[in-house]
Amino acid sequence: MTQVWHTVADWLDRRRALTGRSIGFVPTMGALHRGHASLVQRCRGESEIVVVTIFVNPSQFNDPKDLERYPRTLENDLALLESLGADEVIVPTAPELYPNGYGFRVEPDSRTQVMEGAYRPGFLPGVMTVVLKLLSIVRPDRAYFGEKDYQQLKVVTDMVQEFFIPTKIIPCPTVREESGLAASSRNMLLSPEAKENAAWLFRALTMAANPAETRAILDAQGFVVEYVEERWGRRLAAAYLEGVRLIDNVPVMEIKRL
Ligand code: PAJ
Repeated sequence: MTQVWHTVADWLDRRRALTGRSIGFVPTMGALHRGHASLVQRCRGESEIVVVTIFVNPSQFNDPKDLERYPRTLENDLALLESLGADEVIVPTAPELYPNGYGFRVEPDSRTQVMEGAYRPGFLPGVMTVVLKLLSIVRPDRAYFGEKDYQQLKVVTDMVQEFFIPTKIIPCPTVREESGLAASSRNMLLSPEAKENAAWLFRALTMAANPAETRAILDAQGFVVEYVEERWGRRLAAAYLEGVRLIDNVPVMEIKRL
């Protein structure tokens, strides 16, 4: 039976009763899909207690319109988590997680001012700050993050190491639809035609010989491209389709094998 906690205080009471058992944690912003489900399943297989948070974190949205239209599907999310065997779901409110507004924040160093760090001012500090808060209230042994948000995964892994947080960050592979499109909560915002077209993001990443070619394919398919770059052995891109921002990345090794 999944238990749902709506206040941090209630959750912290519950947390005190969970000592001595291994705790796995999957932080999410809800609107759950197969990508999230894969993280929860992996967590279920490796932990005695599975904790999931659902929190649309305002501090990581640089565009208020994006925050406003971010999909919210709490009832479905809770049903899915129940079916996946999650034990504890925390659904906190913003005033509780940010009792003094955005009082303190984690500021990553200037090396993160690329890609998401460059195009979404405030996004990485917002993510790091909320992840630090969530890790502090959950105190998990392991936390699961998707490779789909590759820079986020890197930054969180570095932060946990630098702050000596005793949680192991577990990277999880990107779950895709048959078309190759990476599962994403934002896909719900696309029209059926745009969703078909969106698979070109994955194709352009994997088919092209180099980032410039990826960009050219995306331009031709009607995307508004923000960046295509190669780092950490991956090729990564962000682009808009119908005003919806999509990101994806693939390992460069796999491109070379195709
Ligand atoms: P959200 O976009 O809900 O994603 C939650 C987790 O699911 C992240 O670790 C993300 O990388 C992973 N994920 C999303 N789509 C995936 C896919 N197709 N395959 C595999 N994993 C996938 O990322 C966030 O929320 C927030 O920034 C958060 C970390 C919760 C902080 O607010």
